[in-house]
Amino acid sequence: MGKIQFPEGFIWGCATSSYQIEGGVHEDGRGETIWDRYCSIPGNVANGENGDVASDHFHRYREDVALMKRMGMKAYRFSIAWSRILPAGYGEVNEKGIQFYSNLIDELLAAGIEPYVTLYHWDLPQALQDRGGWTNPQMAEYFLEFGRICIDRFGDRVKKWITLNEPYCAAFLGYYEGRQAPGYHDFSAAVSAAYHMYVGHGLVVKYFRESGKGGEIGIALNLMGRLPFSEKPEDVEAAKRADGYLNRWFIEPIMLGKYPQDMIDFYTSQGVVLPKFQKEELELMSQPLDFIGLNYYNDFHVKYSEKVWPLQFVIENLPHSVVNDRNWPVTEMGFKRMMKRMKEEYGVGNIVVTENGTSFHDVVSGNYEVKDYARLDYLERHIRVLHETIEEGVNVSAYFVWSFYDNFEWSFGYNSRFGIVYVDFKTQERIVKESGHWYSQVIERNGLEV
Ligand code: NOJ
Repeated sequence: MGKIQFPEGFIWGCATSSYQIEGGVHEDGRGETIWDRYCSIPGNVANGENGDVASDHFHRYREDVALMKRMGMKAYRFSIAWSRILPAGYGEVNEKGIQFYSNLIDELLAAGIEPYVTLYHWDLPQALQDRGGWTNPQMAEYFLEFGRICIDRFGDRVKKWITLNEPYCAAFLGYYEGRQAPGYHDFSAAVSAAYHMYVGHGLVVKYFRESGKGGEIGIALNLMGRLPFSEKPEDVEAAKRADGYLNRWFIEPIMLGKYPQDMIDFYTSQGVVLPKFQKEELELMSQPLDFIGLNYYNDFHVKYSEKVWPLQFVIENLPHSVVNDRNWPVTEMGFKRMMKRMKEEYGVGNIVVTENGTSFHDVVSGNYEVKDYARLDYLERHIRVLHETIEEGVNVSAYFVWSFYDNFEWSFGYNSRFGIVYVDFKTQERIVKESGHWYSQVIERNGLEV
């Protein structure tokens, strides 16, 4: 048997987000969010489900932290619901909301688990959506206000901050594809939303540096390979465009202070209305960060299609791909390619894997076990490749499994389970899955036995 040993001090953790786990949506003065509203519209979410109860974390956070501790977690990534802190999006602070997160942070620290806090994981206060949401340039200032309060109130204990989670999804799935809140179908609006999120990100990073609170700040991007379905030149071009759409449009402003020119030209040629890129705003966006968070799930293959405006491509799996219950292929070598690219092409000096995991229809056996070997296999492949990537000189300081436990998977509702802990949504019972037991061993050994 061989051993795969990670560098000393490597941080192993798990991740969640507020709307996906908390529930308690009407409690302690929390304001409505765009996800509460989106879920209330029939047809938006599978089986008409919503996050009203979710994994009931709002009431069970102590028990959840105790379980994380038993599982050996070194760190926990969660997000703060903006509308618990500022029910109207800005203005009056809700002290009960502050108290909830303050208690959670204390509980984690007492358990020896380091909090990694995401400020925006998609649950915008509805009151701000009523003012145009992220398409409104003023949103950047509102985000600063929210970020400032969190840094001021929690920055004595929280030393790891993530401004935005997957701005690509928040902007393009929310404002263009309509598969997420607020459910719009306007490509130009999505580009504008993404731009204002980045200005907001920049303002918060600047405030964090000036606050002198100390610690590290970064952003979590979903960067994943887009490969041509065939060697046909139109598929090769389509893959480059898909890469520009998903990856380069998001990493380049952060690392290089500019948007990719080929995409600017392409969008313009398609009649997309682009924001007026301002030099000072590009400078704000590209302030140095302490780490880049990578949310990696899988690469996809891309095929040219003239039917899709404006992007002109579709995603199509290669025949015989091994896939999960969402039809996402398992592509761990793409994970390595992306981390190398982050270092080599963009000069990222510290990667935190802020999410990695997979969804399967898990089944609880008669003796209360969940034998999720397919998930275990997925995680093992990715962790092995992560180790290789580190050995090859890429600096990665932490890895977070998505997710700690099953939760509300957005428009897929409760049917898509990503947890390494099973949640019975009828009783709220938690059962550590086989992958969860295995992950605890990885943490304990700081590596794998192979
Ligand atoms: C990325 C998102 O950040 C998270 O909220 C989601 O549940 C997972 N991907 C799985 O789709």
